[in-house]
Amino acid sequence: MHARFSAARFRCTELAMAALTAIIMAAGQGTRMKSPIPKVLHEAAGRPLLFYPIQAALDAGAERVIVVVNPQTAAAIQESVQKHFPSVAISFATQEVPRGTGDAVRAGLAAGSWGAGDQVLILSGDTPLLRGRDVQPILERVRDGHLLSFLSFFPPDATGYGRVLRDAQGQPSEIREERDLRSDEEREVREVNAGMYAVQVSSLREALANLSPNNAQGEYYLTDIVALLSGRGPISAQRAEVEATQGVNHLGELAQAEEVLFARIREHWAREGVTLRGRPLIDEQVTLEAGVVVEDGVRLRGRSHIAAGARLDVGVVVDEGQVGCGAVIKPYSVIVQSTVGEAAQVGPFAHLRPGSRLEERAHVGNFVETKNSHLHAGAKVNHLSYVGDGDIGEGANLGAGTIFCNYDGFQKQRTKIGARAFIGSDSQLVAPVEVGEDAYVATGTTVTRDVPPRALAIGRSRQENKDGYGELLRKRLLAQAAEKKKLGV
Ligand code: UD1
Ligand code: MG
Repeated sequence: MHARFSAARFRCTELAMAALTAIIMAAGQGTRMKSPIPKVLHEAAGRPLLFYPIQAALDAGAERVIVVVNPQTAAAIQESVQKHFPSVAISFATQEVPRGTGDAVRAGLAAGSWGAGDQVLILSGDTPLLRGRDVQPILERVRDGHLLSFLSFFPPDATGYGRVLRDAQGQPSEIREERDLRSDEEREVREVNAGMYAVQVSSLREALANLSPNNAQGEYYLTDIVALLSGRGPISAQRAEVEATQGVNHLGELAQAEEVLFARIREHWAREGVTLRGRPLIDEQVTLEAGVVVEDGVRLRGRSHIAAGARLDVGVVVDEGQVGCGAVIKPYSVIVQSTVGEAAQVGPFAHLRPGSRLEERAHVGNFVETKNSHLHAGAKVNHLSYVGDGDIGEGANLGAGTIFCNYDGFQKQRTKIGARAFIGSDSQLVAPVEVGEDAYVATGTTVTRDVPPRALAIGRSRQENKDGYGELLRKRLLAQAAEKKKLGV
């Protein structure tokens, strides 16, 4: 009895709620990008362009998102959307032929199931500067009973945009596309359509059924829904900021949009307590904690995380890396898919390649490359070394020019250095090989056999000194040089 009662109540609630669905048009050809990559998959601040309007729709409260794609780009776009929204179910609709924006929305509608009171937010896939808050005004109007509300703006130059025409009462009565303008008076209208709409699904359905391609481009214009719904109920245009509505049509506009995104991201982190000097470029997915210092020329990519008090000096690149609390990354170091522990130090000019893991207080110094290696607490590799496929024990020290010979042309092998072991400068460790705890490897040794704990390995030829031979050698070389000069060779 109780279960039946609550089920009935749930159904009532569902009926009463108008669901908001976003349809994102991304089936255009994007030919002006002059690129083999689908336009909406070009990246800005580490995310595809399409990410941003989808996120804006979700932030604005859309419960469902339908992306309209074309048959050529469908697979690539679906894969990218799933990667960037792993926990959101997003649907796709295919527009078989690009017959215009009205036809694209028709394809989107056909891909969903709709309740009578549902509302639709229509956006384009190429507007990376749009945010949820920018579309709130049109959503509010539609919630208040408007049949249709869309964003308009006043660009410095209206050429190319659909003009918003208003009736005697000042209500929007039509959007007329550039190529269909009929008079200079219409051309002089400065208010243009941004291409972002909120609409009651019932009104949208009805208007789309009546579209005709009777216009200069022979397309089904979505914009015609304004004239078709005019006089049927309230319709409004809400003025938006120019920046928010900017679409990307070519790589020049992509670069401009990305600049704005980077500036917004810097502003965000500065307000979160991060010190930013100059104009570091930080991707959308990166996270930083308060107290981090980021100098000019730094580039942070992917899902990198920088913990409190860490300092990234000039020119540092972190790509999918984690930098621990209080770590210092000195200038021009590159960290890729690697972890740097608390209070560790890296660089200048160090390269941590994928799979490097530095524990707390480890040091990796200038001109050192590490790959797939684990440096335990306080381990040090300070100068001119290659550490590949290694495990360096706590407090071990690798001298200048230590090389891990990890690759024989076919297979990678591991090198293990015990805690507190000391590897003298210019030594090579031929993997697989192990140096025990507290062992010592003398400078210039090529280690080919395991070194037991506490042992000294020395593998170099004995030095011989010949008295007076230096002077003799000098005279002989001088004579040879003089002879050559005389012969003109
Ligand atoms: C559109 C508007 C115009 C507005 C301008 C704002 C129409 C008819 N015109 O013009 O009033 O001022 O945006 O930028 O809508 N698309 C499809 N399938 C198609 C055609 C387009 O999915 O068949 C997609 C595109 O990928 C794009 C969006 O729809 O994301 C807009 O199309 P676009 O060709 O850029 O329209 P505009 O000519 O710019
Ligand atoms: Mg456009």
